[in-house]
Amino acid sequence: MEAREAVAVEFQKAYGSAPEGVWAAPGRVNLIGEHTDYNSGLVLPIALPQRTYAAVRRRDDLGLRMVSSGMGPVKQMELSTIAPGRPTDWTRYPAGVLWALGANYQVGGLDVAFVSEVPIGSGLSSSAAIEGAIGAAASDLFGFDLLADDQGRATLAGLCQKAENDIAGAPTGGMDQAASLRAEAGHALYLDCRDGSVTHVPFTLEDHGLTLLVIDTRAEHKNSDGQYGKRRADCEKACDKLGISSLREIEPTALDASLARLTGFGAERLRKRVRHIVTEIARVRLAATALNNDDFAELGRLFVDSHASMRDDYEISCAELDCAVTSSLESGALGARMTGGGFGGSAMALVYTEALAATEKAISTSFTAHGFAVPQFIHAVAAGPATRVE
Ligand code: GLA
Repeated sequence: MEAREAVAVEFQKAYGSAPEGVWAAPGRVNLIGEHTDYNSGLVLPIALPQRTYAAVRRRDDLGLRMVSSGMGPVKQMELSTIAPGRPTDWTRYPAGVLWALGANYQVGGLDVAFVSEVPIGSGLSSSAAIEGAIGAAASDLFGFDLLADDQGRATLAGLCQKAENDIAGAPTGGMDQAASLRAEAGHALYLDCRDGSVTHVPFTLEDHGLTLLVIDTRAEHKNSDGQYGKRRADCEKACDKLGISSLREIEPTALDASLARLTGFGAERLRKRVRHIVTEIARVRLAATALNNDDFAELGRLFVDSHASMRDDYEISCAELDCAVTSSLESGALGARMTGGGFGGSAMALVYTEALAATEKAISTSFTAHGFAVPQFIHAVAAGPATRVE
């Protein structure tokens, strides 16, 4: 059964009647621009066809019941009990969105069932997808009208990020929520995280005999563990030492001079972090130009440089991600890199469609030889943003 129908069945099973509607929000894969979002930088994600579906019905009190297939029995709470650090299980993401909305809008109680096609821990933003789905449903059902235009969607994306930061305790930037709510089908989302502005860059690899192969390494990725926060803290420390408010302020031509000013204990590490962020922001600009020019060889080169920068300077790769990248390139991919937060999750490769099967086989063989889990593959196309589907 398709997830879209399955979610209405789950709802009926849990609550004994039909939902008022079904909403869906996509996961994302970032083409380039990693860890740049919380540095007021540039990112270039696409929304995936894989979505999280939410079947929802309003209640006449301020209660909240939620169930998600494969996540155990129905969870029940009062909206008033949602607070930083509460709840602690998977419901913190959707509950957090209602909490964030509640600071600005009149939010009522809901019964909700979720079914997700976005694999959890794959680094493809299952959390942003669940946040986007509940946010879209609440906006429509309570009449906030946030899906009508990009401005409303940007507002909702900001509130979903607040849910993730304040309730789920993951100090992430806003890329994932923006991708899920503001992307356009057939386009990558060029998002400037300094002013929140977006440009939609055509992304139709299939017209050029190419496929974006996403390789879920099955090495589980988390944003709420310490490493993500440590990278963020390094960036903030470097800004303090340089007397700037974000690393975006460093122009590539001024990079060496800025690096030379970072001295003292821990400076070598900070220099590496800064070098990654400044060069990665520059690569996002070049990647958007490459896409506009259909220059996929250049895009591939940028992927390769980006991966090296994340592996060596930002130090967020892992053996599985490096293996996925190396075996893709050895099979003739135009480029490959890890994508998302790192320390597991997914990598991606720009592959000639005719070489796809051979590339997947080579990656799987290499994973087996290293004793890694069997990777999962997705052929990614740029899909549309969160919307009501029924
Ligand atoms: C995670 C975070 C994003 C972003 C990426 C890295 O997906 O949620 O905000 O920082 O990592 O680019």
